[in-house]
Amino acid sequence: MPVDRYEQFVRWTDMFLTTSTATEQARHQGYTAFTAYAAELVARHRASPGGDLIDLLVQARDEDDRLSEGELVNTVFSLITAGHETTASMIARGVFRLLLHREQWAELVADPSLAGTAVEEILRFDGPPASAFMRRVTEDVDLSGGSLSAGTVVMPNLNAANHDPRAFPDPGRFDIHRFAGHPPHPHVAFGYGPHRCLAASLARVELTEAIGALATRHPALRPAVPLEEVAWTDGLVHRPVALPVTTGRPAR
Ligand code: HEM
Repeated sequence: MPVDRYEQFVRWTDMFLTTSTATEQARHQGYTAFTAYAAELVARHRASPGGDLIDLLVQARDEDDRLSEGELVNTVFSLITAGHETTASMIARGVFRLLLHREQWAELVADPSLAGTAVEEILRFDGPPASAFMRRVTEDVDLSGGSLSAGTVVMPNLNAANHDPRAFPDPGRFDIHRFAGHPPHPHVAFGYGPHRCLAASLARVELTEAIGALATRHPALRPAVPLEEVAWTDGLVHRPVALPVTTGRPAR
């Protein structure tokens, strides 16, 4: 992704993913502008091919005919959208949670190698909200809350699963040590099954790097406003609208 249009595409994704106050028309405009940008990126890569992911996708379309033009542009669009806002907002939600639990932030500062397990708890505790990913039930199934018949379309709530007390004792407790010594993938913040997040490993690395770097470089990080005053978006993606922090030591 060239950085020259970064500000612009953040505005577009904000428009259709996080800002519930945007009008339907504004959302549509954001979406259309972003799709056009994905098409422009594809055109740029066609004109001067390289060896990155977009080039490989263009090649799959042009040389192997494995994608239609619409699928190609849509895949580029999805990768950018799925790859940016999800991780950026997860970092914001994670930092919010750590600032709320100062004693756990202090532990992380004392031992930044805890970042990996802290990230698992952040993902479990504050993962994507009620998923936007629908599923069609392929066979009749009995659940404790009732039965679903084959063909029904459902929207599984990943957060509810991640707060299931049978899987996570005392699920409302935020504990960066919860997953210490656990096998990988203990929760379903990245979904489950064939459509599980394509980039779960990449996202884990990004989150661990970001949280670890903050703990190392800004050990005195603290909120610049009372945390209860932080406003949250209520669009498809849930995150603080802004999370003002200071990084200097408090005045004595
Ligand atoms: C913290 C960061 C992220 C979270 C919490 C997250 C979460 C998810 C979830 C819940 C799904 C749906 C899984 C399902 O339907 O079962 C998904 C799908 C997907 N994610 Fe992520 N994701 C993250 C980061 C990323 C990144 C960085 C990328 C790309 C660079 C990405 C690309 C995708 C794609 C392409 C899909 C669709 C997979 C498919 O339908 O087969 N995600 N993600």
